[in-house]
Amino acid sequence: MAKDAEKGTWKEFIWNPRTRELLGRTASSWGLILLFYLVFYIFLAGMFALTMYVMLQTLDDHKPTWQDRLATPGMMIRPKGVEALEIIYNTHDTESWDLYAQALDKFLGPYNNSVQSQKNDVCDPDQYNFQNDMDEVKNNPKRSCQFNRTVLEDCSGIQDRYYGYQEGTPCIIIKLNRVIGLLPGKDGMAPSVKCGAKRYKIGKDEWREDNDKIGEMQYFPPNGTFNLMYYPYYGKKAQVNYSQPLVAIKFLNITTNEDVNIECKIISNNIPVGSIRDKFAGRVSFKLRINTVTV
Ligand SMILES: *[C@@H]1O[C@H](CO)[C@@H](O)[C@H](O)[C@H]1NC(C)=O
Ligand SMILES: *[C@@H]1O[C@H](CO)[C@@H](O)[C@H](O)[C@H]1NC(C)=O
Ligand SMILES: *[C@@H]1O[C@H](CO)[C@@H](O)[C@H](O)[C@H]1NC(C)=O
Ligand SMILES: *[C@@H]1O[C@H](CO)[C@@H](O)[C@H](O)[C@H]1NC(C)=O
Ligand SMILES: *[C@@H]1O[C@H](CO)[C@@H](O)[C@H](O)[C@H]1NC(C)=O
Repeated sequence: MAKDAEKGTWKEFIWNPRTRELLGRTASSWGLILLFYLVFYIFLAGMFALTMYVMLQTLDDHKPTWQDRLATPGMMIRPKGVEALEIIYNTHDTESWDLYAQALDKFLGPYNNSVQSQKNDVCDPDQYNFQNDMDEVKNNPKRSCQFNRTVLEDCSGIQDRYYGYQEGTPCIIIKLNRVIGLLPGKDGMAPSVKCGAKRYKIGKDEWREDNDKIGEMQYFPPNGTFNLMYYPYYGKKAQVNYSQPLVAIKFLNITTNEDVNIECKIISNNIPVGSIRDKFAGRVSFKLRINTVTV
């Protein structure tokens, strides 16, 4: 009996036919609540849109408003392994190195001389290519300098289609990540790339370097420099056709059938050496292993 009565009041609470109340409120009361929330949310949305609009007005499309202190730019290699930075192949297994050659072909496509002369300008070398804005007058779009694929000579993939991979003298291409406004050298000194053995841990307090395994290396362009004319970089929107300068390294006599751990660093008179915590700041390390045993 008591249960039935309880059920009755519960039902009545949901819909009371006597007072015509739904969940204890009449239709007009519900209507007023809905109206209040509708107005309230429209007001909030309006506030949000207005703030957003004012914020966006203060931004410049062509350069970031906030940017971290120009620290040490990251470096990357091409080709790179799928998961780790390692290049492992067998000179007798065409498939194993053709993938690397194809990756380089694809990467260097936009550097073809024909493409570069169409998109970019011939600049004065060894000096910064400043294209600053005159206060409010924007100097946009900004032109970029040609970096011709042929500058990479033996590593350009033009004379040697396979970039030396077939002969066990592979080329690795290095790029410095884009940093807007970076001036990577002072007093006319261009930054350059230097590769060597990477110190690595083999046990507790035990380190090793593969110094004797690296052999002679050849850099393209000579000395592995990034010419100053490719800097400063003004950003994707301001400098649409920008081509990052590259440095190629050809390993002429690297030890085969063994892992060789290599580290390349940027040498510059005004870029601080990257911190140990950021392993890509100003340096990049990778493993190179060329197998020559017939499979
Ligand atoms: C670049 O040149 C090579 C031949 O030298 C050609 O096969 C390739 O299609 C060209 N790439 C572009 C993007 O023009
Ligand atoms: C790049 O190559 C093109 C075509 O060969 C040439 O006209 C141009 O002068 C070269 N640019 C530079 C900077 O050497
Ligand atoms: C970018 O390259 C295109 C050709 O691909 C050229 O027509 C255009 O003028 C270039 N723009 C700038 C800002 O260098
Ligand atoms: C390479 O570096 C050496 C020594 O620093 C210098 O004498 C030479 O002129 C440089 N070569 C080029 C092409 O910059
Ligand atoms: C190549 O390296 C080996 C040692 O790994 C050395 O004995 C040989 O002389 C080097 N060859 C040249 C041409 O430097």
